Amino acid sequence: MEKREQIYEGKAKKVFNTDDPNLVVVEYKDDATAFNGLKKGTIAGKGVINNRVSNHMMRMLEKEGVPTHLVEEISERETVVKKVQIVPLEVIIRNISAGSFSKKYGVEEGIVFDEPTIEFSYKNDDLGDPLINSYHALALKLATKEEIARIKELAFKVNDVMKAYLLSLGIKLVDFKLEFGRLPDGTIVLADEISPDTCRFWDSETNEKLDKDRFRRDLGGVEDAYNEIMRRLMGD
Ligand code: TMP
Repeated sequence: MEKREQIYEGKAKKVFNTDDPNLVVVEYKDDATAFNGLKKGTIAGKGVINNRVSNHMMRMLEKEGVPTHLVEEISERETVVKKVQIVPLEVIIRNISAGSFSKKYGVEEGIVFDEPTIEFSYKNDDLGDPLINSYHALALKLATKEEIARIKELAFKVNDVMKAYLLSLGIKLVDFKLEFGRLPDGTIVLADEISPDTCRFWDSETNEKLDKDRFRRDLGGVEDAYNEIMRRLMGD
């Protein structure tokens, strides 16, 4: 497998073609943004941590029956993944109130829900990723009814698996964002990343924030939080 020209650069990752038309290489950067790119910075070592953490989570999810884009980690910051067509939806699951949920509905952070919630944002930076429901997603032809049903099923499964696993490591899974892709045959697979950039992780004893909220809210100790997550998941 040979890494070739860059085909895309996002806020946190670059994507490269390979000599195999079905595979791409993702390269994780240390760049961090928040509030749709308004706040910019770097988190030293983040690319390495997110690459390793995301692959670790996806390997575990694969074992539990969740299909993912993951193929092979090839360096500290680079992973070979299946080339997919990204479904332009940000799928957000919440177990505990925080972030935009608390703001929008005027409730404090930390309320444990009886059942997880699911919401969709239309993945469109120019529009600021607006919140939509599944009827809007259908009207906008972002996905089919069957795809939306499958995405919901997989997202809740990811939540069940990750929530239990993280709790065993002393981490509360507050909320997280997923993206899904279509393989050439139409199969829906989990894509993008699962990392402290895309999840809220709180220490189960102290509720200390161990995720990107430390960057978003200028709480300090950003690198330490990312390192702590990697240490708890991978023991180094
Ligand atoms: P929110 O509370 O700001 O809506 O965020 C919910 C979850 O989604 C949180 O774990 C962070 C993650 N997220 C992303 O991964 N990318 C984004 O652009 C946003 C806004 C949130």
